[in-house]
Amino acid sequence: MQFFATAAKGTEPALRDELRELRFAGVRADRGGVHFEGDRRAAYRACLWSRIALRVLAPLATFDAPDEGRLYAGVRGVELDDVLDASRTLVVSAACRSSRLTHTGYLCQLTKDAVVDRIRDRAGARPSVDKRNADVHLFLHLVKDVATLYLDFAGQSLHERGLREPSAVAPLRETLAAAVVRYSGWDRKSAFVDPACGSGTLLVEAGLWAKNVAPGLSRERFGFERWVGFDAAERAAMDALREEARAAERAELPLLVGRDVSESALALVQKSTRRAGFEVRVALGALADAEEPAAGAIVANPPYGRRLERPAELARDLARLVDRHPAAHVAFLMAEEQPIGHTRRRPQAPRELFNGDIRCVLRSWAPLPVAG
Ligand SMILES: C[S@@+](CC[C@H](N)C(=O)[O-])C[C@H]1O[C@@H](n2cnc3c(N)ncnc32)[C@H](O)[C@@H]1O
Repeated sequence: MQFFATAAKGTEPALRDELRELRFAGVRADRGGVHFEGDRRAAYRACLWSRIALRVLAPLATFDAPDEGRLYAGVRGVELDDVLDASRTLVVSAACRSSRLTHTGYLCQLTKDAVVDRIRDRAGARPSVDKRNADVHLFLHLVKDVATLYLDFAGQSLHERGLREPSAVAPLRETLAAAVVRYSGWDRKSAFVDPACGSGTLLVEAGLWAKNVAPGLSRERFGFERWVGFDAAERAAMDALREEARAAERAELPLLVGRDVSESALALVQKSTRRAGFEVRVALGALADAEEPAAGAIVANPPYGRRLERPAELARDLARLVDRHPAAHVAFLMAEEQPIGHTRRRPQAPRELFNGDIRCVLRSWAPLPVAG
């Protein structure tokens, strides 16, 4: 089977590297995600292990859809008996570009009608729609009047690991944080410091990665575990994948340090990291005062916003942090227009990333070679 793991814009190369390391076959980065191949259980494994993918999609059918009649007929021809029956719920999402049909809401409606009409005609009853917690997630992609219907293995987006404290303010998505940690160049063994850690998403992702914890282990279940065809044999296969993942966890944890000016943020960090199964060191204070270890990585998503009192001071403090730690990988995920002071170390090429709709840039510095 062919699969497409979707990813936030800018994180595709990180996802490609991750899927290669996880030994998936046919891995190839594309716009918006990464292709890979395998049997159905490869998709289970991707849901369980990927830190960066948002969804794992399998194309079911591709057909011309220049008008609503052809779209309806194309979807209606798709066999879904192994996935959906009248006792289950479904939800459809859609995206389109350069096509005659342009309204995504209407595309979802037509697709849903075609799917449920087919089941009703055969079984006498139809599945219903559940927009919040459906058993089956379908995705219709229409490009230049050609439609592809995908089955989404993940169900709820994979960034929902179930570890985060709900009260966190403006946290990063876990999948973006995982990509940032990977892009930082950190070796997963030396100390990792987030000097403006907020609710600690970067620290949680760093710790899970260092301990080789499969991020999907904390999820109660994935979308595919609710499908018609997920029988005892598939359940046993999934249990074995989870068991294998637990056995692969490492006991050692490098030093992880979170600093923030907000006491309540640090309390959240401790709750989230404990839930993830490890402890981090927290320090109350401004990033200008950070006393980081001599090596490792310093990675942050520094504060930004109109209410920030002294942006020039923060820009200067960030630059000082870079220069004070020549042996560390340093990476800051910043809003595109956010200033940073002059650094003596030369930055690596900036990387464009998106935090939701906000265009961001990852500024990073590789460690300087040690003299002598
Ligand atoms: C954008 S948030 C970080 C969000 C975090 N990455 C997460 O996922 O939860 C920035 C954090 O920087 C903290 N902060 C603001 N000024 C600071 C300073 N001078 N030194 C250290 N932290 C600061 C804020 O309290 C806030 O928690």
